[in-house]
Formats: sequence, C-alpha cells, structure tokens
Amino acid sequence: MKQNTKNKNQVRQTKASSVTPTNKRTAGSNGNANQPSLLEKFFTDQLKDIYYAEQQLLKAIPKMAQASTTEELEDAFNHHLKQTERHVKRLEKVFQIIGKNPEGKKCEAMDGLVKEAETIIKETKQGSMTRDAALIIAAQKVEHYEIATYGGLVQLAITMGLHRAADVLDKTLLEEEDTDASLTEIAENYINIEADEEGNYSWQKGEEEEGSELETSDTPATYSM
Ligand SMILES: [Fe+2]
Repeated sequence: MKQNTKNKNQVRQTKASSVTPTNKRTAGSNGNANQPSLLEKFFTDQLKDIYYAEQQLLKAIPKMAQASTTEELEDAFNHHLKQTERHVKRLEKVFQIIGKNPEGKKCEAMDGLVKEAETIIKETKQGSMTRDAALIIAAQKVEHYEIATYGGLVQLAITMGLHRAADVLDKTLLEEEDTDASLTEIAENYINIEADEEGNYSWQKGEEEEGSELETSDTPATYSM
C-alpha cells in the first residue's frame, strides 16, 4: 500500500511538472521524509532575524525615549526597553530549547524601521507634540513587525511540537501586543489633539473638499500639497 501511494505521488508530481514549470505541491502531501526539514531551517532563520531585531531595539529605544516630548511617551519607551531586555533572554531560551547557539541575522526590515525613527527625530522639532505623534507611529510599525514575527513563530512552534518554545514566544507576543495597544492609547489621550494644534494647515480645507468630491464622483481627484 505504501509503495502504491508513493508511486501515485510521483505520477502526480510528474504530471504537474509537465503542465506548469513550478514546484507547487498539493496541500496535505508530506514531501520527502529523508530531506532535512526546510520548515525547521525557516523557523531558525526567523529566530535569528528577530534576535537581531530585538538587539537593534535595545540601542534604538533609549534614543526614542530621550527624544520624546511627553513624559507619558518617555515612560512607555523606558517600560518597553525593560521588556525588550526580557525578549532577548527569552529568545536565548528558545535557541537553547532547539539546541542551537543564539545568533543574530541582519534584518533589513528592522534596520529600515529604526532608520525611519531616527529620521523622525532629525526632522521634527524638539519639544513638539508632532514629534511624539510621529514617534508613536514609528514605534507601532516596529511592534507590528514583531507581532507578525512572534505570531508566526508561535504557530510554527505549536505545529512542530515545540510546545515549550511556543509558550516562551507567546509571552513576548502578548507584551508586543500590549505595547502596541498602549501606544495607541497614549496617542489618543495625550498627543494627537495637541499635535493637531501645532502650526497652521494650508491644505486641510482643500483636502476635506476633495474628500467629499471623492464620495460623490468617480473622477480621480488631483491632490496638491
Ligand atoms: Fe520585543
């Protein structure tokens, strides 16, 4: 029976490859058990990616805290810095669980997000609420990257039977989600309204008029800054 199933798979793969030049497989087929697990390699790569990312954040968060205008945002960054130190330790524990040495792998995405935060600090006025509003968005982009990574890693760990690793990663996932939610709360309660009152808008009225045009017309609006 086993032999027959294998032959069937081989026939199906041959047929598929003769029709389309892809290596796509049917969901539910198991692949070659003799090959090393690519999923395990991907899981390890993602661990290295987020380990590097967390270490970059250990350097970036203090700069963001120092640049913050409000105490509320500074406190939130300092609180998350302490959590980030724990995130690094938890990742080291997961490396230990899978029998590997902790190792980072350059993450272009996190480098870009950190650079974006640095640009905000350069381009906004010190002591302005606009700076805090922008820093919150930059920090939330970081959180969303982390949430996507930890969320995926937790699910993969469960799928691969790494339940202890899944528990450890899930603790960090919850803290990243809490941080994201508390940044939204800070923006809405303390920052955005005051940032809105800084400076004069030259385009707000026109934007509103064009917005109402968009609701009633199919003609694409032309925006001018
Ligand atoms: Fe983190």
